[in-house]
Amino acid sequence: MYVAPSILSADFGNLKAEIEAICEAGCDLIHVDVMDGHFVPNLTIGPVVVNAVAKAATKPLDIHLMVENNTFFADLFLPLKPKFLTFHIEEEKHPLRLIDHIRKNGVSPGIVLNPHTPINSLEYIINEVDMVLLMSVNPGFGGQSFMPQVIEKTRALREMIDKKNAKCLIEVDGGINGLNAPDLEEAGADILVAGNYIFSSNSYEQAIRAIKLEF
Ligand code: DX5
Ligand code: ZN
Repeated sequence: MYVAPSILSADFGNLKAEIEAICEAGCDLIHVDVMDGHFVPNLTIGPVVVNAVAKAATKPLDIHLMVENNTFFADLFLPLKPKFLTFHIEEEKHPLRLIDHIRKNGVSPGIVLNPHTPINSLEYIINEVDMVLLMSVNPGFGGQSFMPQVIEKTRALREMIDKKNAKCLIEVDGGINGLNAPDLEEAGADILVAGNYIFSSNSYEQAIRAIKLEF
């Protein structure tokens, strides 16, 4: 199981030290939530700050776009060379074109589904992406409650991936903690994002280990 701390819950007044601390604590990726105030009712960070994050990080970035104009924002963040760049299927008329564009820039493309979006929308996309991100909260804010129906959705997506012989990873994002992580792992998740659970803990290392089910 890979763990991607969401820096939305980090102390932004102390961002460099926070990034260094989660990298040292054993995270696998750094999850960066980009919100535009239109697709979601919150506004976060742009490429200037994310570039500072990338410089402080010893782990690759996983950039999650929650925006209306995906191509515009993708072009702002692709030069930072994240490992993954993911965008919402609900907000993209030409997802296959954007997936191709991201890959041609040397970045792994991923697609994100809101909690209400069915996985059958992925039927003709699943073999083209490196990751599917299932939202387990309504996007926009850290610290919300996990929606348990995403456990079954994860299981169904795992079946779809196996049936179609696709290579993509499953990431789940929102309300994840040491208690729901075992169910998600059992259902077939590969990467778990956690913001509030890690950054509000006394020990980032122990929180990451709890999600990885290492005790
Ligand atoms: C929600 C974001 C998540 C969120 C996760 O819109 O995509 O990445 O910050 O934070 P927690 O783990 O606090 O729900
Ligand atoms: Zn996210």
